[in-house]
Amino acid sequence: MVRARGPGRVNLIGEHTDYNGGLALPFAISRGITVTAEASGGDRISAHARDIGEQDEFSLSAPERTAGWRAFVRGTVAELTAAGYALTPCRLTIEGDLEQGAGLSSSAALSTALSLALLAVAGEPEPDDRRELAKLCSRVENDWVGAETGLLDQLASLCGSPGHAIRIDFRTLEIDPVPLELGDWSLVTLDSGAAHTIAQSGYNDRRRECREACKRLGIDSLSEANAPDVDSLPEPLASRARHVITENARVDAMVRALADGDLGEAGRLLDASHASLRDDYDASVPAVERTVEALKDAGAAGARMVGGGFGGSVLALLPPAGFAPSGALVVKPGGPAVLV
Ligand code: GLA
Repeated sequence: MVRARGPGRVNLIGEHTDYNGGLALPFAISRGITVTAEASGGDRISAHARDIGEQDEFSLSAPERTAGWRAFVRGTVAELTAAGYALTPCRLTIEGDLEQGAGLSSSAALSTALSLALLAVAGEPEPDDRRELAKLCSRVENDWVGAETGLLDQLASLCGSPGHAIRIDFRTLEIDPVPLELGDWSLVTLDSGAAHTIAQSGYNDRRRECREACKRLGIDSLSEANAPDVDSLPEPLASRARHVITENARVDAMVRALADGDLGEAGRLLDASHASLRDDYDASVPAVERTVEALKDAGAAGARMVGGGFGGSVLALLPPAGFAPSGALVVKPGGPAVLV
């Protein structure tokens, strides 16, 4: 019997940049999903999602397509097999302390924990480079779940570093740990209550718009665009591209603010990121706006939506005098997905 834990993530800044070849600064959090795998006989895999009391069972050699959490399990099995790993029949138990739809990437926590548990129970080593496993987990979301997500969540969950955010350059997939030292300040997330499902939100529409903008500019990714060219695009493509370019710049500004210990500036950058996501990327909803306001009223130095948007959680940076509204979760950078 083996057990693996996959953490959720919070993205400090750098939203909707991953699939645009840009920059992001996420960290893994302590909440996550645990998958227990016990070897069994036959040619089937059974799965029990303990928190919601649901089951699944399918053929190890030919998992059929389905929807919901089962698509993650079947997709992870299928993608690991397609990548050449000899998986073995087993019983999986899935449980966790990360709400679904809160925008803290329960999906990456699930697929990373699943892949480590499935490999370990089969006696297969994990890939030397975790970025390869992240790509595999991302294919599960893209091809099995129908969410065209980028690599942000999977890399944060697999490559997180305690006490650090990680600066990811999605053009090269280079990852640099950035110390996240907040002293008496704290980062909290507050669920807006507007559940978001990437496959059903405006996320895939935004990806389409970004592809269209690239096509018109004759470039491969929006991070290569320059400001004058962006201004020549029709709306809403110009605004979408403007968000990507300014958000990339905010990621490096955040890295500098953290190095300087300038948390006031870090808060201003969070606010600027939120304004850009709301106004240029059009990824906010009223419940998220109300949550941002509640956090600002509580004294937050900055607050912004995290993750795919259109619902989910808001991240806020609270100075020592700020107090977290009820329901807020203090988030700290934790370790990556592991066997436990
Ligand atoms: C979701 C996706 C990520 C990323 C963010 C937006 O979390 O899963 O790949 O695109 O949205 O930054």
